[in-house]
Amino acid sequence: INSQCVFFFTERFEVLGPAQPVVAVAGEDVVLPCYLKPNISAVDLHVEWFRVQIDNPIVHLYRDHEDRNENQVPSYRGRTSLFPEELKKGNTSLKLYDVRSSDDGPYKCFVESQEWQDDSWINLHIKAVGTQPLISIEGYKEGGISLVCESKGWYPQPQVVWMDSEGHNLTAGPTETERDSMDLFTVRRRIIVQETETNRFTCRVQQQQINEMKETITDIPGEMFHRAHPWKVAFAVFFSLGVPAIIILAVLIPRYMKQQREKGI
Ligand SMILES: *[C@@H]1O[C@H](CO)[C@@H](O)[C@H](O)[C@H]1NC(C)=O
Ligand SMILES: *[C@@H]1O[C@H](CO)[C@@H](O)[C@H](O)[C@H]1NC(C)=O
Repeated sequence: INSQCVFFFTERFEVLGPAQPVVAVAGEDVVLPCYLKPNISAVDLHVEWFRVQIDNPIVHLYRDHEDRNENQVPSYRGRTSLFPEELKKGNTSLKLYDVRSSDDGPYKCFVESQEWQDDSWINLHIKAVGTQPLISIEGYKEGGISLVCESKGWYPQPQVVWMDSEGHNLTAGPTETERDSMDLFTVRRRIIVQETETNRFTCRVQQQQINEMKETITDIPGEMFHRAHPWKVAFAVFFSLGVPAIIILAVLIPRYMKQQREKGI
């Protein structure tokens, strides 16, 4: 009852945003939804978009019927706009062009009239799905074969796991991470594998927050593992050549010596 009274005296409104975070793909454009309820015109109001931080840096500012972006955060320069036709309908959504990983985070849509103000928080999640993992053989190491798996262009940072043919996680080295010029993640992880029944290994790169996964399977030829163990080869050579040789020596030499002795007598 009270709020009804207030409504008649001041033009009261609510600023609303989406209940769910907005997810955008790096490099694409996105709309950050924000609107007034009731849907009064926002043409004569102040509309301000901020990053939610201590000093609320300006992403986009509309006041006195025009965009006033002199004090905008430089990284947003030329990448923001409101929808002029939609403002009349109380739609104060922001269009953000060519999103990048640094755009990730919470935003505040703030709308102010002479008598009233309200704001709403909008969470923007940037995602970038990286390249198909590339597995390379690095060589022999510590009695096994060293493999390295690499994938580029992820956001947020993904996990890298190595698995055997049955999907069990294998112990691998630490994941190395780099940021590229677009601030996206390149990940790399090494593993030393031993011969198994299948010699099949999988590198899986996954980002659970954005529900994305890419994996590559590799089959290592069995012969490669034999060369990883020179002592095994030596053992095999010993048994295939060494044993007959010893038998020959052990049997033939005494026999020869016996013959010699018999001749001598
Ligand atoms: C405001 O909302 C009402 C009810 O949803 C709708 O009928 C009306 O067309 C809207 N006004 C404008 C200007 O969009
Ligand atoms: C506001 O305008 C944008 C751009 O046209 C549109 O995508 C969005 O659905 C509109 N929101 C509402 C609540 O009308």
